[in-house]
Amino acid sequence: MKLINNYLYLDYNATAPLVKPVQDWLCEGAVYFGNPASIHQVGKKSKSLINQTIKKIQDTFNATKYDVFFHSGATEAINSVVKGFCFNALKAKESFHVFCFDVDHSSMVNQKEHVELLGGTFHVLRTHEGDFDRQEVVDALNEFKGEKLINFTYVNNENGVVWDLDEVLKVKEETGACVHVDCVQVVGKIKNWNQINLGLDYYTFSGHKFGALKGVGFTLVSKEASWTPLIRGGGQQKAMRSGTENAFSVHTINLALDYNLSHSNIERAQGVKDEIENWLIKNFGQKITIIGAKAKMRNATTIFFSVHDKNINTVMMALDMAGICASSGSACASGIIKPSRIAKAYGLSDQAATNVIRFSLSPFSQEVESIISKLDPVLSKFLS
Ligand SMILES: Cc1ncc(COP(=O)(O)O)c(C=O)c1O
Repeated sequence: MKLINNYLYLDYNATAPLVKPVQDWLCEGAVYFGNPASIHQVGKKSKSLINQTIKKIQDTFNATKYDVFFHSGATEAINSVVKGFCFNALKAKESFHVFCFDVDHSSMVNQKEHVELLGGTFHVLRTHEGDFDRQEVVDALNEFKGEKLINFTYVNNENGVVWDLDEVLKVKEETGACVHVDCVQVVGKIKNWNQINLGLDYYTFSGHKFGALKGVGFTLVSKEASWTPLIRGGGQQKAMRSGTENAFSVHTINLALDYNLSHSNIERAQGVKDEIENWLIKNFGQKITIIGAKAKMRNATTIFFSVHDKNINTVMMALDMAGICASSGSACASGIIKPSRIAKAYGLSDQAATNVIRFSLSPFSQEVESIISKLDPVLSKFLS
C-alpha cells in the first residue's frame, strides 16, 4: 500500500513492486549471463547464485528435508506437480484422483481437463464461508481407492483466508494423500510466514508476489515424495525441471526473501488493514459486505467485499481515474469483469459475485491516513 508514481497501489495480491535490494541490484547492471552448467568461471558464478538461493530458501523455511526447484512461476509449478503426480500413478498402473477446492486459484482448478485426459478423476471440494471442513474432506478422499493428490491454498488470493497447515497434515495422515500447498500469497503476509509444516509434500511460491522478478518461482519437494517431473530435457535441477536455469532471476528471490524477513511487520500491517476495513464498514456498511469475515483466520493485507446494487464497472473506473489500483472479480482478456468464482463459492449470485472489490495492501508501509483520504471521495460518491 504505497503511492507508486502517484498511484495508490492496492493490488499487491496481483503482483508486488520489486523490493529495494532487487531494484538496486538490477541498477548495478551486474548481468550474470553464464550458463550455470558451464564449467568455466562465468558459468560457475551463475551456479553459485542458484546454490546461494537454494540455501536461503532452505534456511528461511527450515526445509532441508525438501529439494528445491525453480520454475517460471506458480502456474507452471502447479502444472508440473499435478501432471507429474498423474504420470507417476500411470507408471504404477494405479487409478488416480486429483482434489482441489472451489476457492483455489484457476491454475489449479483448470487442471481438470488434463487430469481427465490422462485417465484420472478430478474433484472440486466445497468450502464453507471460505474454510474447509476437515472431516468432510477426509470422507471425500477416503471414498476412493487409488493414488490421491490434493491442493490446499495456504492464503487465498482473493479473500485472504488463511488455512491451518496442522489441519492439512491431519488430512494427509487420515487419507494417505499427497499434499501440495499453494503458498503464492504467503511471504510477508501472515504471522510466521516462514514456518511451514514439514510433514507435507510440496510447497509452491512465486517471486513476483513478494518483490522478486516476474517469471520465476520455486517449489519445495519433500525428499520422500515420489513424482515424475513434467519438463524433460537436459536434466538440470536434479532433473526436476530441465532447461537452463534463470540464475539472474533466481537471485532476486534470494534478495526478496531477505528483505521480507527483515522488513515485513505483520502486527503493523494487520493494524493498517483493520483500520481501513473498519472505516469501510463504519462509512459504507449498508452498501457493502466483507467476504470472508466469518473465516477462522484471515491474512494481514487483504480486504475483499461485495458492493450492493451498484454497477461495479463505474466504481472501478472511478477508482482508476482517481489513481487507485484495485481489483475486482476476474477481468478476462477483453477487460470485462466476470463473476468471481471465490465469491460464488460463498453462495453469491452471478450479479453479486461480479460486484466485488479487492484491496490488497503492502506488508511494508503504514500510510492509513493517505489511503483513506484518497479512497474517501470516490467511495463516498459512488457508495453513499
Ligand atoms: C494463490 C495463487 N496461486 C497461483 C497463482 C499463479 O501464480 P503465477 O503468477 O506465479 O503463475 C497465483 C497468482 O495470482 C495465486 O494468487
